[in-house]
Amino acid sequence: MSASRQMRLAAFCSAGPVSGHHGGWRYPGAVRDFTDAAAYIETARLLEQGCFDLMFIADILAVPNRLDASMDSQLRYGALGALRLDPIIVLALLAGQTRHLGLAATISTSYFEPFQIARQLATLDHLSGGRAAWNIVTSFQDSESHNFLRRDQLSHDQRYDRADEFMQVACKLWESWQDGALVMDPAAPLFAAPANVAAIDHHGTWFDVAGPLNVPRPPQGRPVFIQAGASARGRDFAARWTDIVFVTHASLESGIEFYADMKRRAAGFGRDPDDLVILPGMSPVMGETEAIAQERKTLLDSLAEPRAGLSTLAYHLDIDLAQFPQNEVLPVMDVPGVHGHYKEVAEMTQKQGLSLAEVGRRYGSGSGRFVVGTANQIADRMEEWFVKKAADGFMIQPPYLQGGIEAPVRLLVPELQRRGLFRTEYAGPMLRDQLGLKRPLGS
Ligand SMILES: Cc1cc2nc3c(=O)[nH]c(=O)nc-3n(C[C@H](O)[C@H](O)[C@H](O)COP(=O)(O)O)c2cc1C
Repeated sequence: MSASRQMRLAAFCSAGPVSGHHGGWRYPGAVRDFTDAAAYIETARLLEQGCFDLMFIADILAVPNRLDASMDSQLRYGALGALRLDPIIVLALLAGQTRHLGLAATISTSYFEPFQIARQLATLDHLSGGRAAWNIVTSFQDSESHNFLRRDQLSHDQRYDRADEFMQVACKLWESWQDGALVMDPAAPLFAAPANVAAIDHHGTWFDVAGPLNVPRPPQGRPVFIQAGASARGRDFAARWTDIVFVTHASLESGIEFYADMKRRAAGFGRDPDDLVILPGMSPVMGETEAIAQERKTLLDSLAEPRAGLSTLAYHLDIDLAQFPQNEVLPVMDVPGVHGHYKEVAEMTQKQGLSLAEVGRRYGSGSGRFVVGTANQIADRMEEWFVKKAADGFMIQPPYLQGGIEAPVRLLVPELQRRGLFRTEYAGPMLRDQLGLKRPLGS
């Protein structure tokens, strides 16, 4: 391990009641009012105390209905995804309440327009002083398309085709104002230099956009890009466009394989592989002793309804899981939904011969993502993944708020710092500074 290599830490939050664990919202003392601005502010401030790189807000655009069309399991048990506030608005609130924390919004390229998203993210980047990030999703649920397109969703490859062009347009828009184009000289008078602002005149398969953007070039040049695709097409998209890749794995071996593959793909696109940051998901449940931590996890698991886990899995795979016998192993299949989540479950199913009902129960409890123990034991695990090149850092998925954030900040971060694996202060004002990423050159 090179002395300078440092871990990155992101926190995975959903602006809704359920995040890392389906029992989390029922856990004693957990924040349940997800419409309360104060709760988000407290989470963000805790993360900033712990020098976290960024707070990431997941999002989908429908109430999932894959397990039961009535949405009964989603609504009754609060399965992942049932309710969510709009990420970009939550992050705009946090921009004014924090100074260093990166602010990452999940936004779909399948249902919005590049001009609108380039403008929103440029605004967030300005208002936060260069801390905006975008989790680029192509969306994967049929139910989402029925809230926008009034038809079935685009095919997997069409979604990525559209996403590729979306990125080209958004980048052109962010570059349509050169650095320094906004002069604001009252004496001259010169508001903006016309020679440094240009239309983009993009005419493509999916979009026709004249430009320029009506927001000047963002402080970071463009926001930091994040993606979590795991299919071959998704991996290429991430390797071509993104700065950070989120991923979930059932084992260290698949983590090492994925890491090497993504770095190779990034090099294939002419990039420095170190500029692609790989962050596997991890949910720590911590205690002063291993026994206390285990007790907490047992309590959490007892609070998760198996039906809620199955409902989330059905929406992640975008497959009606009610059609399969619950006491049998899930058949091998080609899923329309998230390949990464399918791979995780298939690995678990095949290795252990688990019934679908048991897979649902485990999925609701966070499957392989959970690490239970003392801060020291959890740091050991993180260090192993980091040193063996399965991770450049981690996306911490707190099982509930605020305890799921407070404990890592109070106990785990100092342990990582003591080992020299994690910084003790922020490296600069912008998110790119924390991540060690270069600012993209503008035109
Ligand atoms: C850890 C993780 C987090 C994700 N978060 C979201 C999300 O918040 N919203 C969303 O629409 N998709 C999310 N996805 C789905 C991916 O963005 C991607 O659209 C999906 O994996 C389909 O791409 P693929 O077929 O290349 O895997 C997530 C996937 C993973 C593995």
